[in-house]
Amino acid sequence: MGQLFDFHVTATDGAARTGEISTPRGNIRTPAFMPVGTAATVKAMLPESVAATGADILLGNTYHLMLRPTAERIASLGGLHRFMNWDKPILTDSGGFQVMSLADLRKLTEEGVTFRSHVDGSKHMLSPERSMEIQKLLGSDIVMCFDECPALPADRDRIAESMRLSMRWAERSKEAFGDRPGHALFGIQQGGLERDFREESAEALKAIGFDGYAVGGLAVGEGQEAMFACLDYAPGMLPQDKPRYLMGVGKPDDIVGAVKRGIDMMDCVLPSRSGRTGQAWTRRGQVNIKNARHADDPRPLDEECTCPACRGYSRAYLHHVFRAGEMISGMLLTWHNLHYYQEMMAGIRAAIAEGRFAAWEAGFHALRAEGDI
Ligand code: GUN
Ligand code: ZN
Repeated sequence: MGQLFDFHVTATDGAARTGEISTPRGNIRTPAFMPVGTAATVKAMLPESVAATGADILLGNTYHLMLRPTAERIASLGGLHRFMNWDKPILTDSGGFQVMSLADLRKLTEEGVTFRSHVDGSKHMLSPERSMEIQKLLGSDIVMCFDECPALPADRDRIAESMRLSMRWAERSKEAFGDRPGHALFGIQQGGLERDFREESAEALKAIGFDGYAVGGLAVGEGQEAMFACLDYAPGMLPQDKPRYLMGVGKPDDIVGAVKRGIDMMDCVLPSRSGRTGQAWTRRGQVNIKNARHADDPRPLDEECTCPACRGYSRAYLHHVFRAGEMISGMLLTWHNLHYYQEMMAGIRAAIAEGRFAAWEAGFHALRAEGDI
């Protein structure tokens, strides 16, 4: 019998890897991009449409779901997959990171964090134990350790203190998670942009032992150059034979640079969020559909894209429905953006499998340099 949760690298090209994660709910082709379904929905998309773009896995959020509609309610209704009608794998973030950016009146202690809901001001607590309990109630396939991270820039003492707290929480997360065949627990490396702290964090996580390892604490204001400099060494500190997940990244060129440096999984709200604000991502870069230059343009967003927005509608139409505030605007642009991201991931996987990632990357940048037509 095969492992219930397993990861195999099938090809490498430089530091880049391609492979597959197998889970009881289906396989995840890596490098994988995970659309964000924070509140039990990828906004403006039906789940079957998200699957049609090529997504193998979604991300959900402990923080949002515990507040509304509550993890207990979702559990009593059969779990998050049944609740939101998505039967493929779901990874859930653990809540600490969202508390720090969204909640009010936060109080951080060794035990965990207390805070007030940004929805209704009600008081709540999250700890490693409570986060594991919530992620279990949700029925998450890939559970994240409960962690904490400072906004950058922060001084070295603050980064070390926070990282060491997250490592103690990682140990408590592992203990509370227990033994759940078919479900995975991922550790989260912290340590800011400090190489020695990244090393200390990786060693602490490896000693505990996880099914996968995330690089956390990046894309928090440091800029792409600093993030890539950290990714030049951070993924290499984590086990070769487990998936490596870069949390909260990113723009298409961030993703390409992260994969090049050994990352297997990523998530970001960008393709879905920017779809609702009139921003489209294409092979030629970013297109702002609000711009008046699209008002009379009969061409699709991208001539070569096979998504419903590009097959059925002109730039002029997309411009009109955005300007008119019609709901189909967010639906079509989100679909296009998610389709573009997944096509990019498919292109990346094929290129790594065939040992031509460098050439693929050169083509990716060359087309973007030409710009929108
Ligand atoms: N999302 C983006 N960065 C992080 C991080 O460092 N930790 C967690 N839990 N989630 C994140
Ligand atoms: Zn399209």
